[in-house]
Amino acid sequence: MCGIVGYHGPRETAAVLIEGLKRLEYRGYDSAGISVLAEDGLKTVKRAGKIKVLQEALQDGLQGRCGIGHTRWATHGEVSEANAHPHMDASGEFSVVHNGIIENCEALRERLQLDGVKFQSQTDSEVIVHLIAKLYRESLEQAVRDTLYMLKGTYGIAVMTSREPGKIVGARYGSPLVLGIGDGEILLASDVTALLAYTRQAVYLQDGEMVIIDDTGYKTRDFHDRIVKKQIELIDWELEQIERLGYRHYMEKEIREQPDAVRRALGGRIDREACSAHLGGLELTPQQLRSIERIRVIAAGTSYHAGMVGGYLIEQIAGIPSFTEIASEIRYRNPVVEPNSLYIAVSQSGETADTLSAMRELRRKGAKVLGMCNVVGSTIARESDGGVYLHSGPEIAVASTKAFTSQLSIFYLLALLFARMHHYSIADGQSFIADLQRIPEQISEILQRSEAIRELAGRYAGYGSMLFLGRGLQYPVALEGALKLKEISYIHAEGCSAAEIKHGPIALVGPDVPCVFLAPDDSLREKSISNMMEVKSRHGRVIAVVTEGDREIEAIADDVIPVPRTSGIMYPFLTVVPLQLFSYYCALERGCDVDQPRNLAKSVTVE
Ligand code: M6R
Repeated sequence: MCGIVGYHGPRETAAVLIEGLKRLEYRGYDSAGISVLAEDGLKTVKRAGKIKVLQEALQDGLQGRCGIGHTRWATHGEVSEANAHPHMDASGEFSVVHNGIIENCEALRERLQLDGVKFQSQTDSEVIVHLIAKLYRESLEQAVRDTLYMLKGTYGIAVMTSREPGKIVGARYGSPLVLGIGDGEILLASDVTALLAYTRQAVYLQDGEMVIIDDTGYKTRDFHDRIVKKQIELIDWELEQIERLGYRHYMEKEIREQPDAVRRALGGRIDREACSAHLGGLELTPQQLRSIERIRVIAAGTSYHAGMVGGYLIEQIAGIPSFTEIASEIRYRNPVVEPNSLYIAVSQSGETADTLSAMRELRRKGAKVLGMCNVVGSTIARESDGGVYLHSGPEIAVASTKAFTSQLSIFYLLALLFARMHHYSIADGQSFIADLQRIPEQISEILQRSEAIRELAGRYAGYGSMLFLGRGLQYPVALEGALKLKEISYIHAEGCSAAEIKHGPIALVGPDVPCVFLAPDDSLREKSISNMMEVKSRHGRVIAVVTEGDREIEAIADDVIPVPRTSGIMYPFLTVVPLQLFSYYCALERGCDVDQPRNLAKSVTVE
């Protein structure tokens, strides 16, 4: 989704803005632009396409002491130079970049047109710059504030005017903005990754807050012009964590980081003495935890799949009814919040609009919502009633991989905690912990065999459609496998419960639609074999992810991907990794842009 960068300081502004925008490329975008305050006023350059196109356009240099930049992911209006940000007013004295959506833009546009304003773009964002120019009296801060009163929707904005050289005003309502405080310089961004090359000191703006940056420093205010005191917080990511470090793609790097990511997620959270888990941020007493009668997980995409595994597992081993729901569906179905329910909002970015809105709606109705996020200081993490961080390190590739296995790690710890409060014995707890702690090493073993998966992908990348089938805990893994394949390789893929294919999807089965079965040695393996036979009888090709040494399935399937042996409930950690690698290699084989797949954004901050 769109990204914002602002800079005020002694460095070459355009270079800092471009560097920041490149750090935001991973979020997904289709055009980019910058405005810089030069000696003779604001200079704006924007281009459709990648940042390198913008960079080429800037070759003659753009000198200035402060500036704002933007990467746009089209919502209102096509991908074009005119629709790219920054947007300027007719006089060229005001420049605005905007993330979010202005819902009343049509009404505002009509009113401005009646006043004679000529619009240059089809975007909702352009109304903001014209309003600011129209409402400007003697202060940019006042003009921005007066404009914000008129906007409905969500926004993170950064604004400059040549009438007040050296000033940048930022404001946030529903779309993140964070300040980076450097040595004699100040940055503004929608995402901390754009700051890391310059500083690790951050000030996170909350909804309803503004920042005014000028030669004297910065001040924070609310929309009613009241002073807001903000803490400077330390960003706990290192610059090298957001570099590719010799890998061809971030996705490959992140797949290979999983053993460490799982270790970090589990780190310090296993209570050996009690054979249980302790998760510091839950903000719930043991008594409150014991009184929980049902668990509801809300999430989107890959986080939803991790939540499904978590829900199944908690219900299975802790006996607490658990249900996982797509966040975007909750908000508009007027959910009933039952007493003694615990809600868990799962989100890698912590900024997903669907999950955030669902969480706000549930909390409004009295629900207690825990956040399970990766990005520290993200909106979901801040607004939830307690929560647990994944500590996976930054996830840059659009296709989520290490966040999934880290989310599983936290769910497995939660399940253990609840199970030990109910009917899990000490011995049950001990063997669960032993199996869980072996997972990172077992993931490494799978990663070492990636060449075989690359070869397999080479043979299957030419197919137009695939089915991913699993049962029980492997059903959400099948959904995740299908999501991974379609989002980065553009091969159509559908994930189903293996039992459910006979209710419809089996109509697709035949030589042209390979079926990927997740059939490790768990309690549903025999059932999966029966479903495999149904596919084979219809001349379907079968790729099976199995426990190593499974001769029976080897004899049935056309191809097998072995994973190390573990206990039945632990397999989701191991079966998902080959599917990630398979998708990655299929995408490579098809020449796809793995890290920035078409139409997708990393952090989906619009509904
Ligand atoms: O940041 P979140 O975990 O809330 O993101 C949710 C989805 O947008 C995300 O998982 C998406 O489905 C990924 N592209 C999947 O790889």
